[in-house]
Amino acid sequence: MREVVLRVPRLAAEDVLDRLLLIVPGGVREQPRGRHMELRMRGDDLPTLRELERAAGRWRHKLTEREVSDDWRERRAADYSPDLIGGRLIVRPEWAPTAADFPHLGRDLIEVVLCESPAFGAGTHPTTRRCLELLLDLTPRGSFADLGCGSAVLAIVAAKLGWHPVMAIDVQAASIEAARENAAGNAVDANVRWMDLTVEAAPRADGFAANVPAAVHTSVAAAWAERAPAVGLISGFAAGEAAGVLHTYRAVGLGEVEQVDAGGWTVAMLERG
Ligand SMILES: C[S@@+](CC[C@H](N)C(=O)[O-])C[C@H]1O[C@@H](n2cnc3c(N)ncnc32)[C@H](O)[C@@H]1O
Repeated sequence: MREVVLRVPRLAAEDVLDRLLLIVPGGVREQPRGRHMELRMRGDDLPTLRELERAAGRWRHKLTEREVSDDWRERRAADYSPDLIGGRLIVRPEWAPTAADFPHLGRDLIEVVLCESPAFGAGTHPTTRRCLELLLDLTPRGSFADLGCGSAVLAIVAAKLGWHPVMAIDVQAASIEAARENAAGNAVDANVRWMDLTVEAAPRADGFAANVPAAVHTSVAAAWAERAPAVGLISGFAAGEAAGVLHTYRAVGLGEVEQVDAGGWTVAMLERG
């Protein structure tokens, strides 16, 4: 299959795209590259380079052509580029090449491999990503509970960092299934349990992460009225709900030490006072 990539200044991208879409029936994928936009087209019936040059007019910055695999799985793996989190963590889908295939990322990386699943937590959502960054900053100090674990990405990273024992809890069957598969796939010992945190009391661990809706935070904090964990990461609520959520944790002795925005969501690090 042919692949053609046309690079144009970002400001001209919409204009060029309008013209391309008239002659590229299979569609055009846009990818920002600094001040430029890459317009990628694939297929066996693409226009000639001359026709594409004409469509780009004076905005053509670069035009390249190559053969790519007809197999979408091979194309997906070839297109993959790893995303380094906190300078030392890679979270990748199982079909992607391993971190070792990208030596420029450096060595001693923590690598987490996730199975394909409808469970939340591929590591790409801004809340997951921010929680991962903050988790990397925490010093492991005992047990850890990942409340609303989804794929269990936070639990797996916690375990790899040295938290022990690690528990991962969710209310969705698909999350439980993915969490178990991911824990095993990453050779991590995690106790994955189904639990509705609005019904049953959240277990108390030394550290926790809870990337869950605001109403679930209320139940989680209430469960720790006697004694709260030493440290935790919370997210899953919008900036407008942050004051209320932080207040419920403050009421059980967990004060915020850091608060960051994650695309309109709030992520906070809490510590017992
Ligand atoms: C935003 S996802 C977070 C997944 C993962 N921890 C992450 O940070 O990417 C929220 C998760 O909380 C779970 N959840 C929502 N309500 C819950 C409840 N009442 N009890 C337990 N888990 C719950 C959902 O099923 C979902 O997997």
